[in-house]
This record gives sequence, C-alpha cells and structure tokens, in this order.
Amino acid sequence: MIETQNLITSFGLLKAVDNVSLSVAKGTITGLIGPNGAGKSTLFNTLTGVIRPTSGEIHFDGIRTTKSPPDVLFRQGLAHTFQIPRPFPQMTVLENLMLAPTGQVGESLFAPFFMMKKVKRQEREIQAKAMDILTFTTLDTMANDPAGKLSGGQMKLLELARVLMGDPKVILLDEPAAGVSPALTEILVEKIKDLNARGHTFFIIEHDMDFIMRHCEPVIAMVSGHVVFEGSGEAARSDPQLVNAYLGDMTYE
Ligand SMILES: Nc1ncnc2c1ncn2[C@@H]1O[C@H](COP(=O)(O)OP(=O)(O)O)[C@@H](O)[C@H]1O
Ligand SMILES: [Mg+2]
Repeated sequence: MIETQNLITSFGLLKAVDNVSLSVAKGTITGLIGPNGAGKSTLFNTLTGVIRPTSGEIHFDGIRTTKSPPDVLFRQGLAHTFQIPRPFPQMTVLENLMLAPTGQVGESLFAPFFMMKKVKRQEREIQAKAMDILTFTTLDTMANDPAGKLSGGQMKLLELARVLMGDPKVILLDEPAAGVSPALTEILVEKIKDLNARGHTFFIIEHDMDFIMRHCEPVIAMVSGHVVFEGSGEAARSDPQLVNAYLGDMTYE
C-alpha cells in the first residue's frame, strides 16, 4: 500500500529521514520503532504530505504521491493521527467528527441555494455516520461534551474516530498508546484489530515494545533517519545487535 524509494526529508542540514526505502504491505499492522529523534514522525508526515520530501519517491496504493498534499491523500484513503491529538476543544466530540473531511457538498461556499435540501440530507448522513463511529470507538456517551473534556486516552480514540470518517484504506498511528491507560489501550487495540480484519492496513509508531511485539507484524526499525531493520517481530527481538544498540533503552518505557 505504501512504498518509498530513497526517501530523504531534510530540515536544513539534518536529514531526519535519510534514504529510506520501505514498504507497507496491504492487510498488515506494520510497526515502526526506533529511539527518540530517529525520524519516525517525520517519515509519517512525509508519507501523508504534511512535509514535502527533499528527494526520493513515494507511492500509495500504486499511485505516485511524492508531492501530493494531505487532503488529496486523505481522499485517496491515507489517514494519519498525530502524536499529540489536536481536537477543537470547545466544539463537541460529535462536531469534531463532523468536521473531518469527507467531501460533502456543504463544504463549498458556493453551494447554490437549490442544493440546500441536498446539503441538509448530507449533513444528516454525516451525523449518522459520526454517531456510528463514536459508538464503535466507545465515545458515544460523550458525543455532546466539549472535546476538551476528554482524557488523553479518549482524545487518542477521538483521533482514530476522526480519521475513520474518511473511510481510509491505510491508517498511520503515531504513538497511539503513549499516555493512554491500559484499559483504553485494550479498547484501542481491539478496534485496530477489528478494522484490520475488515481490510484496513495499519502503520504504527509505538515506543512500547510489548505493544509492538504483541500486535505488529512485520516490524521496521529506524535510527538516525535510516531503516536499520525490516522483518518479523520475532526476528527483531532475537537480533542482539538491534536489541543492545537501539532497543534496550526503549523497552517498556
Ligand atoms: N519541523 C522540524 N524542524 C526542524 N527539525 C525537526 C522538525 N521536526 C523534527 N525535527 C528533527 O528531526 C529529527 C527527527 O525527529 P522526529 O521525526 O520527530 O523523530 P521521532 O518521531 O523518531 O522521535 C529530530 O532530530 C528532530 O529534532
Ligand atoms: Mg515522534
């Protein structure tokens, strides 16, 4: 679903992503590990068009997307949650979801008056879809609460809910379990597995090695902008060089 060739993303002289060639296969829950500053978030931001790569190529679902902006990629089915969730705190949980881009008619400032009926109907459909997704992500009881009231873990669920509005084929999650209670992490994992069984591909950055080993296959490791390992979780765990040099300090952080 995702393929990069010799991808480089620089910030000044720093190559945060340095010559990365990797692929994420359809139907997988692929894990991405590596120490802080390895370039993982920058890689995700590059794949989703938030940051333009300096050089190299990206293909998403067989289409060259090297220079595609995020909204185009979102409509093509590539969604991304951020390491730090950014909901609109004063708006309700439901409203936050209804704002997610889905290409509705009402988005156009110039939707002609005679289309109002259609706009209204679409709004009702979007609201129904949002409620379904809130139920799925166990946030339905908070639908009318301001998003700012959610706990850190619930905000992560809201982030997932928000991207589900776009029916993504591939979902990139940046540290979904960080700062999330074990109970909410369980729910999150259950939802990821459920969505994966229904055909959604996942690419997940996670610091928690236990999470990666239990739920991700295959695993990719990055250090200093480079991919240093690509293989099964089992192989990653039994690679002494990888464990000693890079992973030892991040286990169970
Ligand atoms: N917007 C930016 N401007 C300048 N440097 C950045 C920016 N974003 C990230 N970096 C730098 O790029 C490197 C990789 O960061 P990041 O992708 O956030 O790593 P990770 O997610 O693996 O912790 C770090 O050295 C970081 O300081
Ligand atoms: Mg990061």
